[in-house]
Amino acid sequence: MVSMMIADEKPQPQLLSKKATCNSHGQDSSYFLGWEEYEKNPYDPVANPGGIIQMGLAENQLSFDLLEAWLEDNPDALGLRRGGASVFRELALFQDYHGMPAFKNALARFMSEQRGYRVTFDPSNIVLTAGATSANEALMFCLADHGDAFLIPTPYYPGFDRDLKWRTGAEIVPVHCTSANGFRVTRAALDDAYRRAQKQRLRVKGVLITNPSNPLGTTSPRADLEMLVDFVAAKGIHLVSDEIYSGTAFAEPGFVSVLEVVAARRRNSTDADGLLSERVHVVYSLSKDLGLPGFRVGAIYSSNAGVVSAATKMSSFGLVSSQTQHLLASLLGDRDFTRRYIAENTRRIKARRDQLAEGLAAIGGVECLESNAGLFCWVNMRGLMRTPSFEGEMELWKKVVFEVGLNISPGSSCHCREPGWFRVCFANMSAKTLDVALNRLAAFAEAAAVEGRGRGPAAAAAARRVLGPARSMSLPIRFSWANRLTPASAADRKAER
Ligand SMILES: Cc1ncc(COP(=O)(O)O)c(C=O)c1O
Repeated sequence: MVSMMIADEKPQPQLLSKKATCNSHGQDSSYFLGWEEYEKNPYDPVANPGGIIQMGLAENQLSFDLLEAWLEDNPDALGLRRGGASVFRELALFQDYHGMPAFKNALARFMSEQRGYRVTFDPSNIVLTAGATSANEALMFCLADHGDAFLIPTPYYPGFDRDLKWRTGAEIVPVHCTSANGFRVTRAALDDAYRRAQKQRLRVKGVLITNPSNPLGTTSPRADLEMLVDFVAAKGIHLVSDEIYSGTAFAEPGFVSVLEVVAARRRNSTDADGLLSERVHVVYSLSKDLGLPGFRVGAIYSSNAGVVSAATKMSSFGLVSSQTQHLLASLLGDRDFTRRYIAENTRRIKARRDQLAEGLAAIGGVECLESNAGLFCWVNMRGLMRTPSFEGEMELWKKVVFEVGLNISPGSSCHCREPGWFRVCFANMSAKTLDVALNRLAAFAEAAAVEGRGRGPAAAAAARRVLGPARSMSLPIRFSWANRLTPASAADRKAER
């Protein structure tokens, strides 16, 4: 400690804990490195038209005007007032880690509304957390000991490596899904993952799914949820369903919550003792449906009293601030508003998804998985790769970032086993910017086709024509950075035990 306080002395890495320095955080993944690159050269239609367009960020910026209009009409919410009277002192002192009853009631009703009231949420089973990130970690803390494993269908959200494993010491065992059936999870794939975990002497504590899926942009069919529930029931393990994108489903088949399947079992007595209900947990957040990732509002929903009690204690490490709860209690408590918001927001998501899917369909060598939810499309760009390998995927990704100027996320960062897939986000930009991105990609694909899958200087020259002279491909610093991607992508795949 003393040596750390001496002015000129640099902190010694060995003074940090193994936990802090181990690389299970996953920060070196191409998923995060693409963000770094975007930050250095962000696109702006006027100030930097040759910059990188951020298509690696699943943000919903499509309905801010609706939220802003509501705030204009309801000044008490932001003004820290109730019925015109100040609640500043009350909010400044509030510190109950069970959360504000008014907010939990409003959130429970909103979650029920999102699911068409086919299931309803009991506010006393909700644990508030600082976003879904914190909710997922707290659940892992409650359900898995160091070295225990959760099975997760691939491709999956790259942040899970950090959120589920880093501080808890839990392990992820991938359930390999393939394009042959649109990446749907099968019983055979679950059994295979379970066996692999056993071979590695890992105790499997549960399965974690994301429904609707990030990165696929698809909802889980009811039959798949039933199969998953059968699987966890047979093994006596937990099922966590991250439903952070539940309010983004815009087309049939709509969103079905795993809680609907569990409720049906209770009704027809397949879960008469309620044991299954106690092993199924839902994660939610307002980061995507309301587009408020900066507010840090998430929740665990569980009918397991032990989980609720432990997670509530855990939530002390990431509470939702009282002024945020105050504001959102009013906003989510306004039923007319939430009904209109949900309908309009999904309509806008669909329109933007259609713009991307139609634009991509017109580009040779690119294919989009049919989606019905989410803020992104899962796109097969194998046709633009020089070699059908993960090296080929990385090579294409670097070209798309540096030459085309689009930050998209390679499938390998989502632990996809098939090279050539990329996640492409569409809801964090204007329709005009999306058109710019599509035009860039079309020109790149055209040049690649002329040159035989992007080989040769003419393809690069064509891409440069699209981007204009502002973009340079030859900066050595950039390429020394790009070289870091090769080991990182290998690490992405190595993390798949
Ligand atoms: C599936 C999934 N879970 C959790 C998160 C983290 O969300 P939050 O901002 O609420 O922490 C994300 C964010 O992209 C996500 O896609």
